[in-house]
Amino acid sequence: MTLQNPAMNHDFEKVGALLRQARRVLFITGAGVSAESGIPTFRGATAAFADGLTEDGLAFEEVLSIETLQRNPALSWKYLFKLEQSIRGRAPNAAHRAMAVLQSPGRDIFVATQNIDELHQRAGSRNVFELHGNLRRIICLQCKYTKYWETYASLPLPPCCPLCQSGLRPEVVLYGESLPPAVLAAFSQEQDRGFDLVFSVGTTSLFLYVIEPVLAAARRGVPVVEVNPDITPVSGLADFRFAGPAGGTLAKLAAQLGI
Ligand code: OAD
Repeated sequence: MTLQNPAMNHDFEKVGALLRQARRVLFITGAGVSAESGIPTFRGATAAFADGLTEDGLAFEEVLSIETLQRNPALSWKYLFKLEQSIRGRAPNAAHRAMAVLQSPGRDIFVATQNIDELHQRAGSRNVFELHGNLRRIICLQCKYTKYWETYASLPLPPCCPLCQSGLRPEVVLYGESLPPAVLAAFSQEQDRGFDLVFSVGTTSLFLYVIEPVLAAARRGVPVVEVNPDITPVSGLADFRFAGPAGGTLAKLAAQLGI
């Protein structure tokens, strides 16, 4: 039996009460949310490379950059394939499901994710901002060809556009690229409308677009909740910190609302 920390239980009740009252809730999510689905976190995956370099002797950030995709598509596609392999067949976990079931007619849930695995949508979340894109949406570098690929398995690498034979790419944000403007604009519109409660779950990211909504919440006196086993750059701003895995923590919070 695990010993329960009474202070932590008290926090579950308090955050449960905040969730019950909230009309607009933002979840900012990172790789940690998909960890319990069996997808390695970004830090976990890169730590597997000695000296932080891939087996091709280059940094992950270099092989997955827009420059490399244009100059050496076979090299980029080798690592895009590995990324796709890591999400292939993976299913949403309790964390994704909890965020989805918290949606109700009186409570809008928004998810701004850095994950490219689509597990939030597969769990049923409707308002998802895919800040880093989606690995399964494929577009041609030259023409208007666009297709959704459930898997990259049995693809010739690098793949070519069936319409014009040019190179293809997934609609993800590669290193050296800006975030998708339409996604940013839609997210910014919701941020302007404000949130009643902001969660940061499973991310260590230092990107401003990930940290700014937390900073804005802290400035406006909106409660901030962090769910992460580790201390992160936003931990000091959190009014509540749950230092456990996202799945169990969010499921327990949803249970506070009788869900
Ligand atoms: P990271 O891999 O940097 O961080 C994963 C976070 O998840 C860490 O803070 C872990 O402590 C936490 N974590 C691990 N298991 C968890 C669990 N079961 N429940 C909750 N938290 C858990 O991933 P991100 O912060 O998402 O960008 O990385 C952000 C970006 O860094 C990536 O999207 C990528 C990279 O640069 C691009 O590709 C553009």
